[in-house]
Amino acid sequence: MTVRSAAQEDIDAIAALELEAFPEDAWTPEYLQVAIEGKMPTVRILVAEDDSGTVVGHALVSVVYEIAELQRIATAAERRRRGIGGELLVASIDIARSEGAERLLLEVREDNASAIAFYDRAGFVEIDRRERYYRDGATGIVLAMEFAGSSGSPD
Ligand SMILES: CC(C)(COP(=O)(O)OP(=O)(O)OC[C@H]1O[C@@H](n2cnc3c(N)ncnc32)[C@H](O)[C@@H]1OP(=O)(O)O)[C@@H](O)C(=O)NCCC(=O)NCCS
Repeated sequence: MTVRSAAQEDIDAIAALELEAFPEDAWTPEYLQVAIEGKMPTVRILVAEDDSGTVVGHALVSVVYEIAELQRIATAAERRRRGIGGELLVASIDIARSEGAERLLLEVREDNASAIAFYDRAGFVEIDRRERYYRDGATGIVLAMEFAGSSGSPD
């Protein structure tokens, strides 16, 4: 398994993962194209590729000064619980830290138990709740990971 930067030829695979993981608001191939072409300078898209060259997961992290946001992370449904999400997360954290972020933020649906367990295991902590954050009225939980050794001052 390899985690690497996404390229043009990954767009269809990422779009399929988006539809599977986020059917309500999947990113389109057109949107992904713009991001992969580098027209969104704060955005990095990663893919996890298995030994046969199949894309089995993706993540998107954006970094703006000291704040990084994990906007997406997903593993192909039939490949979950095998460490792929963990590897994508580690790679996303590496990018965030290397670009100078001091914390990594994300929003997760209150009813997404798998993702909440995943983030909890990784060490994220809840910092806020946003009522009716999602289109269907679901609450969003804001989670954060502070990077040790960053130059930011403690809260
Ligand atoms: C969240 C997600 C990316 C995790 O990917 P993954 O490849 O299954 O993650 P990993 O195998 O690296 O899991 C690491 C650990 O997280 C925890 N975890 C992951 N999924 C879990 C689940 N369904 N239930 C309980 N714990 C879970 C476990 O501690 C797991 O370690 P273990 O398998 O040794 O017990 C995946 O479930 C997914 O794609 N979900 C749909 C998309 C999504 O909701 N993304 C997040 C949006 S905010």
